Amino acid sequence: MRRKIIAVDGPAASGKGTLARRLAAHFDYAYLDTGALYRAVALNVIRKGCVPGDTSAAVEAAQNLDMAQLDAPEFARSLRTAQTGLAASIVAAEPEVRAAILQAQRQFGETPPDGKQGAILDGRDIGTTVCPNADAKLFITARAQVRAERRWKELVGEDKELTLANVLADIEARDARDAGRATAPMKQAEDAHLLDTSDLSIEEAFAAALALVNG
Ligand code: C5P
Repeated sequence: MRRKIIAVDGPAASGKGTLARRLAAHFDYAYLDTGALYRAVALNVIRKGCVPGDTSAAVEAAQNLDMAQLDAPEFARSLRTAQTGLAASIVAAEPEVRAAILQAQRQFGETPPDGKQGAILDGRDIGTTVCPNADAKLFITARAQVRAERRWKELVGEDKELTLANVLADIEARDARDAGRATAPMKQAEDAHLLDTSDLSIEEAFAAALALVNG
């Protein structure tokens, strides 16, 4: 039987990760945070002593990406920093990096692990490129100021120097790079439902997302 696929896209700190995880728990589907794959490529490039704009280092890191690495606690923590997010958006603009990890994402959707009956993938291009035939598509957004406040609250515990203004500037730079790149730019798929979470609590956003998925 064909497995169900739900695509959840949107900009940084829009709430898409939280909603995708909640939806996965609700339906008992497998969940893949595709942003973590680009973050892992970027982190491996940096740890090799290269800059994220080094195309050949980024392509090599993408071709050798080991998904198991994402579960190692120290690596997983380093994935979440603002610096890694920004570096991820630089490696993600490289078409060969995207091509190298496309198949693994599609395979996750088509044959989700642990015998699950469906998969939820969140990212920027799931509804448009990775799983264009997904059964349901959401594009989650929120005003940039609201997203910056959410992300700042998440990150300030780890990095006391971080200011809200810096986080907002990073988010705006990332939005521009992700929406402006030539290959698989961040974009709402024509058949995706738009959900703006700016003025919603997590519970309200989840209820709205669930109603859209259940159609
Ligand atoms: O979602 P997250 O903030 O973890 O994503 C980090 C970066 O990875 C994004 O800014 C984007 O450049 C890239 N990305 C992407 N396509 C995806 C998921 C993430 O280009 N499907």
